Amino acid sequence: MIKTALITAAGRGLRLDRPGTPKSLVDVDGQPILFRLIRQLKSAGVENIVVVSGFESEKIEQKLFRHPHISKGVQVVENSQWSAGLASSVAAAEESILNFNEMDPFLLVMGDHVFDDELIVEAVSSKLEVGDGALFVTKNIEAIYDYESAVKVCHDKGVITKLGRGIDCANGVDMGVFILKPSIFKLLPVKENGKDALEWSEALQNIIESSNLLAVETSAVFDDIDTPSALVHCEMRLRKIRREAVVNRPVYPSNSESFTTFDYIIDTPVKTDIVVGRGFVKDPSKLQIIRDQSASSPIFVFTDETVAEIYGYDFRKKLVEFGYDVNLIVLPVGEESKSLTNYAYLVERVLRKGVDEQSVFISLGGGVVCNVCGFVASSIYRGLNLVHLPTTLMAQSDAAVSHKQGINGYQGKNLVGSYYSPQMVAIDVETLNTLPLRLVADGMAEVIKHAVGQDESYVDMLLSHNGDLRDLDFIEAAIRRNVQLKCELVLNDPKEHKDAMILQYGHTVGHPVEHLTGYSYYHGESVAVGMSVAARISHLMGGCSADLIELQDEINDKFKLPSRIPAYIKPDSILETMKYNKKFLSGGTRMALLQGVGKLWSVNGDYAIPVADKVLLEAVEASMEK
Ligand SMILES: NC(=O)c1ccc[n+]([C@@H]2O[C@H](COP(=O)([O-])OP(=O)(O)OC[C@H]3O[C@@H](n4cnc5c(N)ncnc54)[C@H](O)[C@@H]3O)[C@@H](O)[C@H]2O)c1
Repeated sequence: MIKTALITAAGRGLRLDRPGTPKSLVDVDGQPILFRLIRQLKSAGVENIVVVSGFESEKIEQKLFRHPHISKGVQVVENSQWSAGLASSVAAAEESILNFNEMDPFLLVMGDHVFDDELIVEAVSSKLEVGDGALFVTKNIEAIYDYESAVKVCHDKGVITKLGRGIDCANGVDMGVFILKPSIFKLLPVKENGKDALEWSEALQNIIESSNLLAVETSAVFDDIDTPSALVHCEMRLRKIRREAVVNRPVYPSNSESFTTFDYIIDTPVKTDIVVGRGFVKDPSKLQIIRDQSASSPIFVFTDETVAEIYGYDFRKKLVEFGYDVNLIVLPVGEESKSLTNYAYLVERVLRKGVDEQSVFISLGGGVVCNVCGFVASSIYRGLNLVHLPTTLMAQSDAAVSHKQGINGYQGKNLVGSYYSPQMVAIDVETLNTLPLRLVADGMAEVIKHAVGQDESYVDMLLSHNGDLRDLDFIEAAIRRNVQLKCELVLNDPKEHKDAMILQYGHTVGHPVEHLTGYSYYHGESVAVGMSVAARISHLMGGCSADLIELQDEINDKFKLPSRIPAYIKPDSILETMKYNKKFLSGGTRMALLQGVGKLWSVNGDYAIPVADKVLLEAVEASMEK
């Protein structure tokens, strides 16, 4: 059993570049990497731990000694030569390690690596007969994130023959866990003031040449936290392990021969006709909205009180004149219409009126009307014909151009709904002439989302415009581009698990903002704030530069959208409300984040980036209205 361990936590982590945070203090799975390691070592039986610090040494000491239960038995040695490389940090611990024991092996562990508990237990309880040392080497090469940058190892009959990043004989990867004899310090060629100091891998190469370094082969995996994406990868891996660990599932048989199985597949693609034009709401003779096979069936036009006055009653009158059997359903204005109670009432009302399988449900209004009508249409008789005639920019640029129909739950927005494609979405840009300016600006948020998330030239187009929200030609061009970008996305990723996750950009924090302002912040305004917070989060995680935050705020400003969370909302409430989100698993928050304009952040093909509560809180606090 090994009683002494050395953790090297001196480096700066240039490639990780987490503003102001020394690498070993970066959180994974809710705690600093260094704390996780110390806990693991102690619970495996290690009694003495030497931590070598260097970059931001004070911060590391302060943090450690603020937690007496963690720092007990831990000694910090500051290495002022830390920038000379890892070999100098190992050498700096010589005296402390020899004080504990001059003969027995000690464990050397990299302070920026994340291991599973089992590996640490195996290393601590190792009864290896080490010569000068042994290195844990994983043969599970496929599981290594960023294999290119990993330090590879060639070993022959358990003895390491070569080690380095670019070697061609590799049959394993250096895990950063060593069992070493104190005599190793004599082999470390580190000179004063960093002169002649070697890279760690070069130092190891020297050791290999003058003594035996054994390879302890394992199939365990680990994460070397040296880039923002490596950190995200690690967080994803740990959350997956945690989720799976709660299930005490039986070992299911791989082929259940005793059962009969069938493939039941109904995955037929559904096409929605999207029309962008002008004038057909006032004059429905300009566009065929109701297909001929529905001509004699009851038609339901959903609208709200305001839109009914401006367009709805006339629209119904004209359809009636054409001979259709039209029922106008006028909803109260606002988000309350998206309640479960209202939904149940509407379904009963429609069924009472009489409806058949060729009936058409037409939404004429903003996002609320189109969401409610869409969900009613998708659920009566398990789905009837649906046409959206959106009349707000929010609905024209997003809500109506969608196969997502849904209403709110008591805990938050859009919690109940279905994936259901409309037959047609007909966007009459002219209806925006009557829309109050605040609502035009509000719709611009979804336009901005597509631009920032998908297309740099679209951002240029927005930035070069004079900001006049009554410029219908500009708005129409933006709507066309939005529809085009959205069509491209949903074709390959209809459930938004991959690159279509950009559609949720800004919504993870936006929805709580909307909910917590009691809907006094409109949907788009809340999303604008959410995009600004998302940019801050990505920046804090090293995912993007500060330019993205600036750009987001500039573009929000230009189109009269807010970037800040109202001061009366408590940051903690945002985090609490965020839990009612489909991306929130038992493991915590996951978000669509950007690495720059048009670059959605993905790690190993996964676009839902895990975000630690601490980072979230920091970004939310930095986004509060002053
Ligand atoms: N399902 C989705 O994919 C999706 C996407 C984005 C937004 N949404 C939802 O959409 C809703 C927000 O949509 P919204 O902003 O359109 O809100 P809304 O439907 O409440 O409309 C806003 C206001 O504008 C009025 N209005 C609508 N058209 C008008 C016109 N042409 N002239 C004058 N007044 C008009 C309405 O009466 C209402 O008072 C939210 O509930 C949001 O969750 C859903």
